[in-house]
Amino acid sequence: MCGIIATVGRNRAIPVLLEGLHRLEYRGYDSAGLAVLDGGRLVLHRKVGRVRELEAQVPAEQPGTVGIAHTRWATHGGVTEANAHPHLDTTGRIAVVHNGIIENMSALRARLEGEGVRFRSETDSEILAHLIGRYYFAEDGSETAGRPVAAVRAALRVVRGTWGIAALFADHPELIVAARNGSPLVIGLGEGQSYLASDSHALVPYTRRVVFLDDGEVARIDASGVQTWHSDGAQVDNAIETLEEVWGDGDKGRYPHLMLKEIHEQPEALSRCLSGRVVSETGTARLGGLDLSPRDLARISRVGLLGCGTAYHACRVGAQLIEAATRVPAKAEIASEFRHRNPVVDPDALFFAVSQSGETADTLGAVKEIQIKGGEVMGVVNVVGSSIARACGRGVYIHSGPEMSVASTKAFSNMVAALAVFTLMLARQRGLSVHDGRAYIQQLLDVPSRVAAYLDEPGPIDELVSWVTAPTTNMVLFLGRGLSAPVAAEGALKLMEVAYIPCIAYPAGEMKHGPIALLEEGSPVIVIAPRDALQDKTLSNLQECKARGARVALIHTAGDPVGRYADLSIPVPDTHPFFSPLLTVLPLQLLAYRAGLALGRDIDRPRNLAKSVTVE
Ligand code: F6R
Repeated sequence: MCGIIATVGRNRAIPVLLEGLHRLEYRGYDSAGLAVLDGGRLVLHRKVGRVRELEAQVPAEQPGTVGIAHTRWATHGGVTEANAHPHLDTTGRIAVVHNGIIENMSALRARLEGEGVRFRSETDSEILAHLIGRYYFAEDGSETAGRPVAAVRAALRVVRGTWGIAALFADHPELIVAARNGSPLVIGLGEGQSYLASDSHALVPYTRRVVFLDDGEVARIDASGVQTWHSDGAQVDNAIETLEEVWGDGDKGRYPHLMLKEIHEQPEALSRCLSGRVVSETGTARLGGLDLSPRDLARISRVGLLGCGTAYHACRVGAQLIEAATRVPAKAEIASEFRHRNPVVDPDALFFAVSQSGETADTLGAVKEIQIKGGEVMGVVNVVGSSIARACGRGVYIHSGPEMSVASTKAFSNMVAALAVFTLMLARQRGLSVHDGRAYIQQLLDVPSRVAAYLDEPGPIDELVSWVTAPTTNMVLFLGRGLSAPVAAEGALKLMEVAYIPCIAYPAGEMKHGPIALLEEGSPVIVIAPRDALQDKTLSNLQECKARGARVALIHTAGDPVGRYADLSIPVPDTHPFFSPLLTVLPLQLLAYRAGLALGRDIDRPRNLAKSVTVE
């Protein structure tokens, strides 16, 4: 989603801004823009489309050592150059970029228009530029007149909503003002040069010394560092942190797309997630980031798992594992639903907020809702230092490494693996024997090599691609039971987002209560039925589909003769039934990738989507 990069110091700003914008591209965007100060004049460049198109428009030698830049993912107003950021105030001497949403936009816009302001865009963000201008250019004697930080603070006092902003003042070439409320910002400290970004990935080429802004804070950033204030004006003592996990640059390596690279990184990513966390000797697990003693574990009355999209599917797998192995009630819930239904929060429950980016607004909102109600919530997050990780304070990093393709693949697997490790820890405390704990560990540690074995020989995926991309196909149905139901949902999500093919996922037993009406001669149905206690029942549902003329592909355990019941058999390596989602999801990831490829889709940046969804 929207991204911010800004810099101030002794070096030319443009190369930093363009590099930063490129590094933010993976988040998803539809237009980009930047503003630099050149000899006291604000120079603005904006472009619909890719950062490289903006780059082509900016003069190579454009001077200026202070600037702000933005990638926009449209919320208010269409994808047009006028709506791209930065936005200027009426004088053209203040430029602002904004991530987030201004909720009282209508009232503020009407008020400003009533005062004679002429808006140049349809965005909510432009309001901020005008409001800041109004306070900065207030009559002499006003305490905000000519004072950038005071003007920003005053403007934000009348705004409701979420923001991460950077403001540039033509009269102050020595500084940038930043403010955060619900939309992340991190300040990078270099030698004679400072940086601001919405995502620490954009700072990686320049510095590892960072200050994370917290909600309600306003910062003045200059070449020598940063000063920060709370909204009430009290100065904040900035803690300088070191970015420990420095991500690569999103290089595709030998793969044509990031998605394919990330699918193939799963064996290594899984090993990284498990490494050092399972202890064969005692048959248990160690998750230091949770900081839970056996006594704390004993007090857990139930487990709640919250996430969105793919992360929610991982939560559904995790909830089933936890409940099956520990007998502690566990429930997965879509974070955006949870936070808005005024949930009851049991103080003895343990919640997990599951998120690759650690920035998903709905998941972060759920964290806050739990905390307000006195509950305990921990992160299961990939991005170190992200908003959810910081808001939770405790948790498990899934260590997928950078996931830059918009479609999530390896993060799903590592979320499931991290939850499987937690399951073991809780199960041992709840009576699992050391012997059974060791067996669990052995099976779990074997998963990465089995994933690698499957990816080496993925089976007849291309035939399935030809089914789902056929002009006669108007919908694909995915079915699974138990742990395979969330895998079916994940397969459907992946195929929809990467190939834009309408898909429906249903728990297999529920199919006859409605979706069966959709089936006609040749309708593609993908059934996930590894060898487990529910397999027979799922196979009956498969037969029901076939009886209605559907073409059925079956994802099943290698060596299991059930493949003969289907029109297309896709075997995956055997594993403990608990870990089958880590294998059965693989053909579905490859299907989405190859179907997207066959249809000429923008695989790594599917239309309308964003990598990190920072709005509700
Ligand atoms: C699907 C996908 C999204 C994300 C969802 C949550 O491929 O990427 O559905 O899973 O937006 O994102 P995170 O995990 O960053 O909270």
